[in-house]
This record gives sequence, structure tokens and C-alpha cells, in this order.
Amino acid sequence: MLDIRNKWALVTGASRGVGLQVACALASRGCNLVVHSRKKEHTAPEAQQLSKNVKVIQLEAELSDTEAVKEMAEKAEQLSGGIDILYNNAAIMTAYRTDIYSATHDEYLKSFLVNTIAPITICNIIIPQMIKRGFGRVVNVTSGIKDEPQLMPYAASKAALDKFVFDMANHLKGTGVLMNLMDPGWLRTDLGGPNAPNPVESVLPGALVPVLLEEQVCGKLFRAQDFR
Ligand SMILES: NC(=O)c1ccc[n+]([C@@H]2O[C@H](COP(=O)([O-])OP(=O)(O)OC[C@H]3O[C@@H](n4cnc5c(N)ncnc54)[C@H](OP(=O)(O)O)[C@@H]3O)[C@@H](O)[C@H]2O)c1
Repeated sequence: MLDIRNKWALVTGASRGVGLQVACALASRGCNLVVHSRKKEHTAPEAQQLSKNVKVIQLEAELSDTEAVKEMAEKAEQLSGGIDILYNNAAIMTAYRTDIYSATHDEYLKSFLVNTIAPITICNIIIPQMIKRGFGRVVNVTSGIKDEPQLMPYAASKAALDKFVFDMANHLKGTGVLMNLMDPGWLRTDLGGPNAPNPVESVLPGALVPVLLEEQVCGKLFRAQDFR
């Protein structure tokens, strides 16, 4: 497994849920962190705790604001001296629409901005720098959601992110940069809700598998629950 001591990871949506689990797991392996959320105070307790062992930088950005996303990704690169591991985790879920024809334009727009365009924008800023340095691990968090048209803005935004990863993979061959997808499974988080069958901690160790890859695996879907 890859040694990530003293490397730098950017984790979006690191304040709670899956992102918090991933950030803590990376830090426990000696990886320095850029932790993102909408407001720095949301990552303050974790930053205080984790900075006892690794370097931690807090950044904030509303991911539906593409200019704020660009600024955040550029700052992450500059302040860390170069991001080695990009964990695009943050996402939003839209309202459950019993009337499957009633999802609004705004629900589609915001879902695509936060769940698709923001992670792709961050990739487009950071991956070229990773390629120049000859190393990178990129994990885009997706969902196994299927046959739930009641949540179509969310489901469609994740399907578009999957397409980005699958079709970019070939272009990363031989660069040292690996980009993959991670489906955490249905978890009891703010997004997953209280009825989910799995505790949030069950995302580990699987969520780190695509980070710790040594072999050239790119464009693959990893299901965290397969590694429990
Ligand atoms: N939970 C599940 O059952 C499940 C299943 C399949 C896939 N997933 C995927 O797993 C990932 C993490 O989900 P989760 O359950 O851990 O979610 P969560 O507990 O709701 O946490 C969401 C994180 O994203 C950040 N965030 C939310 N909206 C944002 C916005 N508009 N701009 C910037 N940051 C924003 C939040 O930051 P703040 O604290 O600042 O709000 C928070 O850190 C997502 O990609 C999700 O689609 C989850």
C-alpha cells in the first residue's frame, strides 16, 4: 500500500459524514490535509484535533458558486505546495419527489453545480499540476443510487460525474495520476438519513482503497462496503 506520510490531501465536505471519516483516516496515516466545508467554523474542531499530528489548512467555499470553487482549488494548491490526493466528496441531495415529474429546474441546476461541475472544476485545476509532478490520486465520490426517479436531480448529477471519470481515465495513462470513483454505500449521515442500514464508520477501510493504490488502476468504481 502507498505510503502517504507527508503528502497533502484536499478533502471536500470534510466537516461531517464521509468526508470527516476520510480526513481522519488520511491524517492517521500521516497525510497533511486541506479540509473544505462551506464555513471554516464547520471544520474547526477537527482541524484543532488533527493538527496535533499533521499539518491542516481549512478552506471554505460554497460549491454552487463556480468562482468560489476555482479560488478554493487554487488556494489549496498554493498553500499546500501541491495537492497529491484529491478527495471530491461533498455533495447535496435534493428533496424526495413522490411526484417524479415535479423536480424543478433549480434542483437540477444546484445538484449539477455542486455534485458534478464543482468536482470537475477542482479536477481541471489540480490534475494538470499533478501530471506535471508525476503523481496523484483522485477519488470522486459517487452513489449506487438506482431506480429512484424520486431523487433524479441527485442521481443524474452523480451519473454525469461517473461519465467524467470513466472517459478521462484513458487520458491519464502513464501520468502517475490515478482517478477513480468511490461509492460509500447507504450510510446514516445527514445526507443518507436515519433509515440507512450502515453506520458512517463502515465507509472505512474501503474509502481509502482508491487512495492507497500502488498499481495503475484508473477509471474504476470502488464500493466501500465491499471492504468491510
Ligand atoms: N450518506 C449516504 O448514504 C451516501 C450514499 C451514496 C453516496 N453518498 C455520497 O457521499 C458523499 C458524502 O455524503 P455524506 O452523507 O457524508 O454527506 P453529509 O453528511 O451531508 O456531508 C456533506 C458535506 O458536504 C459539504 N457540503 C454540502 N453542501 C455543500 C455546498 N453547497 N457547498 C460546499 N460544501 C457543501 C458539507 O459541508 P458543511 O458542513 O459546511 O455543510 C459537508 O461537509 C456525497 O458525495 C454523497 O453523494 C452518500
